[in-house]
Amino acid sequence: MRIGVFDSGIGGQAVARDLQKAFPAAEMLIVDDHEHVPYGTRDSEEILELTVAAIQPLLNKKCDVIVIACNTATSVAIETLRKTYPAQKFIGLEPMVKPAPAQSKSGVIAVYATPATLKSERYNHAKQLYAKNVKIVEPDCSDWATLIEDNKIDRSHIAAVAKQCIDASADVVILGCTHYHWIKEEIKQALNGKAIVLEPTDAIVARVRELLHL
Ligand code: DGL
Repeated sequence: MRIGVFDSGIGGQAVARDLQKAFPAAEMLIVDDHEHVPYGTRDSEEILELTVAAIQPLLNKKCDVIVIACNTATSVAIETLRKTYPAQKFIGLEPMVKPAPAQSKSGVIAVYATPATLKSERYNHAKQLYAKNVKIVEPDCSDWATLIEDNKIDRSHIAAVAKQCIDASADVVILGCTHYHWIKEEIKQALNGKAIVLEPTDAIVARVRELLHL
C-alpha cells in the first residue's frame, strides 16, 4: 500500500509519522512545498494553484490514497482536486468543528488555524452546519506556521493564545493546522487542564482503513 501525504511544510511529516505507526507496512511518500510555505496567508486561487502543482509527484506515483495533510489546502482545494482527478482517492484534513461541540460543557470552543482556513467557505459552511449553537474563538495564529517551520515558536506565543481562549471560557481547542501537531504537548500544558485538545489523527487513520477496505 502506498500512501501519499502532502502539506505546505513540516505538518505533513507529523501526520505521516502517525500514519506510519498505524500502517507499518505502508510505503509513505511525503511531499511538501518548502518554496511557498506558508500557504495560510495566501489567497485561495494561489493556494489552489500551488496545491495542484505540488501534488503532481504523488499523482504520478499512483498512490492508493493521497492525504492532504494541510487544513489550508483542504479548505480551499479538496473539491477541485476530487473533480479534477476522479480516479484518485483523497483524504483531507479539516478543523474538527463537527465532533467538538458535543465535547464542550461551556459552549465555547476555540479553533487554532491559519487565516486562509478561517476565511474559507468550506470551514464557514461546516461551522454553520455543526457548530451553530456554540461560540467559536479564533485566536490569531497567523505567524505560527512560519515560527514552527523555523523552530522559533516559544512558550510566550503559545501562552498568549491559551490565555485568550481560557479567558473566553473555551473548554475545547481544535488544532486546525498540521504544523501545530508538533507543539501539541506545549499547547496542552499552556491550557493547563482548562481545555481539551482535539486533532484529527485517529479520524484520518480510520478513514484510510475505510477507504482502502483494510
Ligand atoms: N499545515 C498547514 C495546515 O494544516 C498550513 C501551514 C501553512 O500556512 O502553510 O493548515
